[in-house]
Amino acid sequence: MSGIAILGAQWGDEGKGKITDMLASESDIVARFSGGDNAGHTVMVGAETFKLHLAPSGILYPQVMCLLGAGMVVNPRSLFNELKALSEKGIDISPRRLRLDGKAHLILPYHIALDGASEARLGSSAIGTTGRGIGPAYMDKAARRGLRVWDMLNETRFADRLRAEAQAKNIWLEKVYGEKPLDVEAMVSEYLEYARQIAPYVDDVSVLLDQACRAGKKILYEGAQGILLDLDHGTYPFVTSSSPSTGGILSGLGIGAHRIDRVIGIVKAYQTRVGAGPMPTELQDRVGDTLVERGVEFGTTTGRRRRCGWLDLVALRYAVRLCGITEIAITKLDVLTSLDSLKVCVAYRHAGKLLENSPSDVNIMEECEPVYETLPGWTEDIRPMRTETELPGQALTYLQIIEESCGVPVRIISVGPKREQTIFKA
Ligand code: GDP
Ligand code: IMO
Ligand code: MG
Repeated sequence: MSGIAILGAQWGDEGKGKITDMLASESDIVARFSGGDNAGHTVMVGAETFKLHLAPSGILYPQVMCLLGAGMVVNPRSLFNELKALSEKGIDISPRRLRLDGKAHLILPYHIALDGASEARLGSSAIGTTGRGIGPAYMDKAARRGLRVWDMLNETRFADRLRAEAQAKNIWLEKVYGEKPLDVEAMVSEYLEYARQIAPYVDDVSVLLDQACRAGKKILYEGAQGILLDLDHGTYPFVTSSSPSTGGILSGLGIGAHRIDRVIGIVKAYQTRVGAGPMPTELQDRVGDTLVERGVEFGTTTGRRRRCGWLDLVALRYAVRLCGITEIAITKLDVLTSLDSLKVCVAYRHAGKLLENSPSDVNIMEECEPVYETLPGWTEDIRPMRTETELPGQALTYLQIIEESCGVPVRIISVGPKREQTIFKA
């Protein structure tokens, strides 16, 4: 048995899609466990670019079984749009190789409307959500009034519950937010059609994974978002509403801890964040602009410009601790090429004190100043390099500092967005 978790160790968009796709070539199953179509995972194969939101990044290999777990929130409209686009590119999206847990919750149009209305109401304090209805869908789940994928399998009951929920949400939209109500009957007929389409995909993912583990299959657990966006442990309230952490894998898929052998933390060689919230190493200068331009730092889901900054080792040590990361995959190292010098944040300074651990209070984090160590840069084009020994000494030093600071090895080095632009370190 081999179970490998692939988790975002920062604020998302670390390159989980690329690394999952790479490792999927030697896997039997890729399972997503949390979040929904707020995720945007980019996989480049030859001249083609795939932007995956709900489909696990194993979908491009026909032999890989793809699973969507109970911890996810799934918008059927997005799911079928994505599957249609994949099918048009010749990808097999049949239930033979894609299954969805019946316990996953549904994102419905009123969740999206409420997400937008709530953000508008917050004004300058807005979270900067992806606008996909994630928060309101998880709110319904926690309030025990959510509709789940299973509910779609009984059309009459589903229509009745959807109608009742949509009517209740319309009161909120109108009376609390002053928004227009949604057309309930149009929603019911649209979602009844999805209910018919979804039926063959519905399964019990926990059972499927148990059977696969017993049969010695190789499984990848593909994270979405990143640990610093975790509902419990992230920079609350500027977080998502799920658990992108190792804990989220267990509850989100219905498996035991012994099913995970390795936890790979995906770490971008610098820091990015899309949406609001503290980011101690953010650069609002020319270097920040250079990272945006060279790294093409625009959100895969919303197209928003990502905030960029120097690598934050305080935040990374936190991620290693919280997720039990056993090894690191560094991505986008190529983006740092040609910068005169590089900085890494080794501690925070707050009220005259040095902090080596990330503060839990977001207000304190807002006030933290980064303490940097400066390292030499390199000018060689590292994108064609395929072995560790070819890398410039300065790049190796950069990786060594990360390893020493976090106490875990860097095993994978990504030097470009394509599959082949990857170095496996000894
Ligand atoms: P994810 O959400 O963690 O899967 O990451 P995204 O796909 O949202 O963002 C990562 C972006 O970086 C995508 O456009 C990838 O194609 C790209 N990418 C991944 N690895 C590398 C790399 O090593 N170098 C460069 N230049 N781009 C990369
Ligand atoms: P992947 O899987 C980066 C961020 C949003 C916002 C906060 C809450 O591609 O790494 P939400 O819509 O979830 O309620 O938004 O979380 N966010 C992400 N940022 N990558 C993601 O996913 C994200 N998913 C959510 O920008 O700050
Ligand atoms: Mg992304």
